[in-house]
Amino acid sequence: MESSLQDGFGRHIDYLRMSVTDRCDFRCVYCMAEDMTFLPRQQVLGLEELYRLAALFVRNGVKKIRLTGGEPLVRKGIIGLCEQIAVLPGLRELVMTTNGSQLSKMAQPLANAGVKRLNISLDSLRVERFRAITRTGELTQVLSGINAASTAGFERIKLNTVVMQGRNADEVVELVDYAVNRGLDISFIEEMPLGEVGRSRGESFCSSDWVREQIAERYSLVDSAEQSGGPARYVRLKDFPDSRIGFISPHSHNFCSTCNRVRLTVEGRLLLCLGHENSIDLRALLRRYPETDTPLLNAINAGLASKPLRHEFSVGGEVQVLRFMNASGG
Ligand code: 5AD
Ligand code: SF4
Repeated sequence: MESSLQDGFGRHIDYLRMSVTDRCDFRCVYCMAEDMTFLPRQQVLGLEELYRLAALFVRNGVKKIRLTGGEPLVRKGIIGLCEQIAVLPGLRELVMTTNGSQLSKMAQPLANAGVKRLNISLDSLRVERFRAITRTGELTQVLSGINAASTAGFERIKLNTVVMQGRNADEVVELVDYAVNRGLDISFIEEMPLGEVGRSRGESFCSSDWVREQIAERYSLVDSAEQSGGPARYVRLKDFPDSRIGFISPHSHNFCSTCNRVRLTVEGRLLLCLGHENSIDLRALLRRYPETDTPLLNAINAGLASKPLRHEFSVGGEVQVLRFMNASGG
């Protein structure tokens, strides 16, 4: 069945990204300010509310759900929520984006709970730099987490690297080496201007084309038309057939025309586009109508009708979106 959720431009929405917490044990420079205030408990959706929304979206044709944060693995009860969502009839895959800090112990329970694929953030392989970028993160802990995930039985694991001049841009090839030697995928991401994080982003901007050139100096690249149902464009390496290299280029290659997704913030706001502030308050409807999903579905459909055509991020431009990434569903 094709998704019955459709926006005003005829795009079918079959991918939902759900933020399950705004909290995180890291404070990555591109995601958060150093000093963050997190939401009080009653403003955050409960596990039952998250499940109810997941089920509603899947009944209406959503095929892929990604749980994000903040850091989803710091949410209490996350494994149980995964178990419940993973078996919703009609869902093709439940996947997760994580910073890897909890994976040493949680990778196996997550795989057992039915999570099919993981995206793990990894911005540097050097202890000091990793600490500078994440402000609080321990590289060794994340690397152990990646090892644990590699043997836990996930269908695929992808590393995500936000490339920043002056921080990790010179490590692109080393990160590719690390990924391909383990048979992992890796995506390089252009930084997006979300939230006022206390510095200008223009000066650290690195385009995907530049990143690709760095990799091409070391590896033979083969273009690929593969899609993972997200915004990444992929290439393969001639000598490492198990890995894919992805580029997520909100600035240099706009991907909005094939947008198939919406995001749910941890407060239950449905974000129609990462690059716009407009959203629909599903939490109010969830709580006002405990017995019927009809008002929720009507609100979702009405919101989709006004999903923006595209984001308007520009390099070094003003922050147009005030919300931080950790509240937005990564
Ligand atoms: N720009 C681009 N990607 C971001 N992420 C978080 N904040 C930003 C941003 N401002 C991505 C990173 C991180 C994941 C959780 O979300 O890839 O690894
Ligand atoms: Fe945490 Fe991910 Fe944001 Fe880093 S990018 S602070 S790991 S939510």
